[in-house]
Amino acid sequence: MSEVLLELRGVTVRFGGLTAVHELDLNIERGMIRALIGPNGAGKSTVFNVVTGIYRPTAGSIRFRGEEIAGLNPYHIAYRGIARTFQNIRLFKNSPVLDNVKVGRHPRSKSNVLGALFRPPGFKAEERRTTEASLKVLDLVGLLHKKDELAKNLSYGEQRRLEIARALVSDPVLLLLDEPVAGMNPQEKAKLMELIRNIRDRGVTVFLVEHDMKFVMALSEKITVLDYGRKICTGTPDEVQADPRVIEAYLGKEVG
Ligand SMILES: Nc1ncnc2c1ncn2[C@@H]1O[C@H](COP(=O)(O)OP(=O)(O)OP(=O)(O)O)[C@@H](O)[C@H]1O
Ligand SMILES: [Mg+2]
Repeated sequence: MSEVLLELRGVTVRFGGLTAVHELDLNIERGMIRALIGPNGAGKSTVFNVVTGIYRPTAGSIRFRGEEIAGLNPYHIAYRGIARTFQNIRLFKNSPVLDNVKVGRHPRSKSNVLGALFRPPGFKAEERRTTEASLKVLDLVGLLHKKDELAKNLSYGEQRRLEIARALVSDPVLLLLDEPVAGMNPQEKAKLMELIRNIRDRGVTVFLVEHDMKFVMALSEKITVLDYGRKICTGTPDEVQADPRVIEAYLGKEVG
């Protein structure tokens, strides 16, 4: 059996009277491409936000590589090896592509703002390592030739890949992608699917949230379905597609 990298047990997230995630149990095995799907408002992004420390769970346990991380701040969680992209693109649009990636190195970097001001010994070597690592991931996502462009001049699909580069430059063990293909054309989607497989083959476990069913079913090895914050089922793409509870969750939303 493969190692469980991330383990959620009884995770509940409440916002006032609204329970966004209800007693969720979920395992992410190392080396997998894993997906979380469900209708709008099902709680998918909230799961990512609670795993990455943006929210603190109301109840439950979140273990990463066997250690409890629930309630740690986002920086410490990133430092332990979880990186993510966001549902809405978050880039420094007026900065060059390369600088947007370098920002993501922060969890692996020993220097801080004071270091940048006073440039103590080692600062330059560290800066060089950051640049090298950033160029490497830009090459991996196919954007090396755009390194000096301003982020705002990239196409939508390229901006999404830039966000992935920024997440990857922190050398994560687990990469969370929140709706990575939203707004992409078919060519961009095909390229992204190849990139995600490539990332996994390099030893990074991938956990994605995605509405594009064709994409999710073709890419994921195992899928968990959420509805109103509750887990309906977990299974292979074939199992999930054949599950009447899943069909009902989606159809119910369409009719209602
Ligand atoms: N910070 C917050 N404060 C209050 N309510 C929130 C907050 N974040 C999310 N919610 C609510 O929690 C529920 C789940 O939201 P979430 O964003 O996790 O859904 P989702 O599955 O990612 O949906 P979508 O597919 O539309 O992105 C929704 O009802 C949402 O309005
Ligand atoms: Mg969402």
